[in-house]
Amino acid sequence: MAAREPFYIATPIFYVNDVPHIGHAYTEVAADVLARWHRQAGDDTWLLTGTDEHGQKILRTAVANDSSPKAWADTLVADSWKPLLELITISNDDFIRTTDERHEKAVLIFLQKLHDDGFIYSGEYEGYYCVGCEEYKQLDDLMETADGDYAGQKVCKIHGRPVEILKEKNYFFKMSQFEKPLLDLYESQPDFIQPESVRNEIIQFVKQGLDDLSISRSSFDWGIQIPWDHSHVLYVWFDALLNYITAIGYGVDDANFERRWPAVQLVGKDIARFHAVIWPAMLMAAGLPVSKKVFGHGWLLVGGEKMSKSKLTGIAPEQITETFGADAFRYYFMRAISFGQDGSFSWEDLSARYQAELANGFGNLASRVIAMVGRYRDGSVPVAALDETIASTEQRVTELADAAIERFAIHEALAAIWTLVDELNGYITIQEPWALSKDPAKAGELDTVLATVVHGLGTLAVLLSPFMPTATERLWAAIGGAGELRAQDVRAAWQWTGTGKVTPLDSSLFPRIEQTEASA
Ligand code: ME8
Ligand code: MG
Repeated sequence: MAAREPFYIATPIFYVNDVPHIGHAYTEVAADVLARWHRQAGDDTWLLTGTDEHGQKILRTAVANDSSPKAWADTLVADSWKPLLELITISNDDFIRTTDERHEKAVLIFLQKLHDDGFIYSGEYEGYYCVGCEEYKQLDDLMETADGDYAGQKVCKIHGRPVEILKEKNYFFKMSQFEKPLLDLYESQPDFIQPESVRNEIIQFVKQGLDDLSISRSSFDWGIQIPWDHSHVLYVWFDALLNYITAIGYGVDDANFERRWPAVQLVGKDIARFHAVIWPAMLMAAGLPVSKKVFGHGWLLVGGEKMSKSKLTGIAPEQITETFGADAFRYYFMRAISFGQDGSFSWEDLSARYQAELANGFGNLASRVIAMVGRYRDGSVPVAALDETIASTEQRVTELADAAIERFAIHEALAAIWTLVDELNGYITIQEPWALSKDPAKAGELDTVLATVVHGLGTLAVLLSPFMPTATERLWAAIGGAGELRAQDVRAAWQWTGTGKVTPLDSSLFPRIEQTEASA
């Protein structure tokens, strides 16, 4: 295998104030597809996800539910967040919780270092605070409306809820001194922040000037205690961002830390600022390399607005997987939305793509090919030269897909792979194997057609395995693929060899779904 540099990718760690919706699942799937692709190419890969459990938002939710914050978090993690990963077949290598002892210990090491090195001082702060964002807000981030529930109050543009005025003695991180180093970073490493729209927004933001960051709270105690002043707990974002290094052994296991770091940070664009401004400033202060990249993907929209828990527009992932299955869930969101852009979710679009692309396109191709080898060759895949046009398409789409994945253009990778699905279906229509089978003189031609389409299916199984791990495993077994599918080098998908016999599928890869079921 042609392994490249190590690939460490992390999702945000999600707040456990509520159950996940398809927006969280979307980030998980994208990270998982990228991780599976790299793993299957032989790269030294690590996928991290987890939960963000400290701070006022979680504390208030727990209190409102007559629970302690830890008990509340334990329940949500066990009953909702970890099951989400199973539900949509996420292959994470680790799951970190900010209440894990390993995290808390390493956070203290980091804090003490910044304190010792003079990056932290004590001061006083007064400002508008949004508990939804867990962030002090500038006036630019707020709006006032004339009517509605919050008429005349300043509300957060993201959460649509009133902000609170907080005045506290705090510890501050000297973030302002990283303004210039950050701008230099964005300039010298133009792909550090992607996509371009997010990059531009961040650069504008930093150019307006950076304030020092308040990193402690003394009005509540649900958080990690500041090591030199136990009357303060650490600001939840400072705590949370550190998960990306505490999970891989920062301060504790240097060898593993060196092996994994730096990471690719995959986040929604709502939190790109935290990851592309605060986080690299923290890392620079600690003398550590900054992340490899911060990719801020777009939002899933409902009625033109960001789908969210706080606005009750969240759709539960199981509402979709119940009818369509996990593979289709994964496929749909990766195919239908240009990665990096916003996208509107609609049941009609999901249902239409499922029928056209999965049931009739890919699923039917697989069923037809397997049935034909059974019927015409008693299940034995003929050994014959492959059609050259199809073989060259297999090579081309493999290369296009890999190049697209390198650019995080996940939707383009799928579009490229789908040209092979379409070409194979077209090839069968033109070659008419059912006609060839009736003429003994055409046995050699039929061998070529069957060998070609089985090979094409194998290439599809290898290329699509990161996207649809379950269906492709079934397909690989049905065409008699030798060895583990996940061990097939995805960057050389078109060169796979070794099939003997096909076994019929016990049911279609993507059964047709009745319209009523799909829109229920
Ligand atoms: O912000 N469309 O957690 P969070 C697409 N704990 N993605 C969406 C989405 C939508 N409508 N809604 C949510 C936090 N997401 C912090 C992160 S990281 C150190 C701490 C996804 O539970 C997307 O990835 O509010 C977004 O950035 C994230 O969920 C926010 O999750
Ligand atoms: Mg949020």
